[in-house]
Amino acid sequence: MSQRLTIAIDGPAGAGKSTTARKVAEHLGYVYIDTGAMYRAVTLAALQRDTTFEDVALGELAESLDIRLEPTTDGQRVLVNGEDVTRAIREAAVTSNVSQVSVFPRVRRALVQRQRMLGLHGGVVMDGRDIGSVVFPHAEIKVFLVADVDERVRRRVIDADQRGEHLDVETVRRHIIERDKLDSEREVSPLIKPEGAVEIDTTHCTIDDQVQRILELVDGYQKTYSLVSAFTNI
Ligand code: DC
Repeated sequence: MSQRLTIAIDGPAGAGKSTTARKVAEHLGYVYIDTGAMYRAVTLAALQRDTTFEDVALGELAESLDIRLEPTTDGQRVLVNGEDVTRAIREAAVTSNVSQVSVFPRVRRALVQRQRMLGLHGGVVMDGRDIGSVVFPHAEIKVFLVADVDERVRRRVIDADQRGEHLDVETVRRHIIERDKLDSEREVSPLIKPEGAVEIDTTHCTIDDQVQRILELVDGYQKTYSLVSAFTNI
C-alpha cells in the first residue's frame, strides 16, 4: 500500500506554486494547504484592525484568529473567524504588506504550529516559503519552484486580468522584486532552497509539466519505499 506523503513546495511569488500544488493534491487525493493564504489572512486582519506592525501585537492577533482553508470546486476558500476573505486577501493592500507581517517571529510561530497540525498525518501538499526548510524539514518530497522574474510578472498580470483587475506591469515587477528581497533576506525562516529539495525551473514549463514532474518524484519515492519495506520484511 502506498504511503501518504508530505509534499513541500517552496519558491518565490509567481513561480506557479499554488496551481501546481493544488493539481498535485487533486491527483493524489491529498489535502492542499496554501500557507501564503494564512499570512495574508493575518495581514488583512491587521490592516482592518489597524494593528501596529510589531512582534507582540501581530503575534497575539495571529494566535487569536480562527483561520480555515476549505477546498471547493473552484479553488480554496479562506475563512477568518467565519468570514469569507478569499477575495479580500488577494487585494493590493494585503499583497503589499504581507511580507512585512511575515517577518515577525511570533506570527510565524503561531502559523507554523497550525501548519504542522494540519500536516500531522501526511497526505498533504503544502506550499509556501519555508515548508521544506522549517515546517516539514523531514517531508518525503521537497520541491523548489523557480522562474524568471519577467515570466512571474507576466503570470501575475494574467491572473489579475482573469479576476477583472488591471495591473500595471512595472508596478507588479517592482512589488515582486521587493517581496523576493524581503522574503529571502528576513532573519527568521527566509526563503531558501531547502536541503534535499529538487529545483524545478518553471519559466518554460506548462503547469501540466510541473505537475507531472512532481508526480514522478512521488512515484519514485513510493517505489523505493515499497522495495525497502519488502527487504526489511524478509
Ligand atoms: O504565496 P503568497 O504570495 O500568497 O505568499 C504571501 C506572502 O506570505 C509571501 O510574500 C511571504 C509570506 N509567506 C511566508 O513568509 N511563509 C510562507 N510559508 C508562505 C508565505
